[in-house]
Amino acid sequence: MKIVKKISEINQIATNLKKNKKEINLIPTMGNMHAGHLSLVTEANKFDGTNIVSIFVNPAQFNEMDDFNNYPNTFEADMEILSKTNCQIIFAPSINEMYPEGIKAKKTVFKYRDILCDLFRFGHFDGVTTIVNILLDLIKPSKVFFGEKDFQQFKIIEQLIIQNNMKINLVKCSSIRDSN
Ligand code: PAF
Repeated sequence: MKIVKKISEINQIATNLKKNKKEINLIPTMGNMHAGHLSLVTEANKFDGTNIVSIFVNPAQFNEMDDFNNYPNTFEADMEILSKTNCQIIFAPSINEMYPEGIKAKKTVFKYRDILCDLFRFGHFDGVTTIVNILLDLIKPSKVFFGEKDFQQFKIIEQLIIQNNMKINLVKCSSIRDSN
C-alpha cells in the first residue's frame, strides 16, 4: 500500500494507470475509518482496477471551525485498517496541497439544494462539491464510490458529475449499520 501526499505524484500515478489502460476506483473519505468506509472498499473490489482511498479532512465543508479542529485525526489507525484491505494507494494531501490559494468553496450545484441538510448546514455542500470536483479532476477515476447513507450528498455529487460531463461511474453503496 503506497501513501501519496503530493498532487504531482498522484497525478503521475493516475496518468500512468490510464496510459496502461488500467481502471481507477476512487473512494473519497475524511479518514477515521469505520465499517462503512471498508464496505466501500469491498464494493470497489468487485470491479477491476486500482483502488485509491483519499483521506482529506476538508475544512471547506465544516460549518463550525471547532468541528473541524476537533475532527479525529486517526491516520496511523486508518493505515493499519486499510492495509488489511485491497487498497493499493492512499492519497492523503495537506490543506496547502489541496487549496494552494486558500480555502474556498464555490457553489456550482443548485439541484437538490435548499432542502434537508442544506437548510441547516450553510455552505456544507459547496465545500463537498468543491473538494470532490478537485479529486475527480485530479485522479480521473472510472468509478467513484459513495454511501447511500448520505443520500443528499450522493444526489448532489451525481449532479456534479452530470453537469461536468465527467465519464465517471458513480457507485452507490448500501448503508452499513451497527447491530445496536
Ligand atoms: O462523505 C465524506 O466523507 C465527505 O463529505 C467527502 C465526500 C469525503 C468529501 O470531503
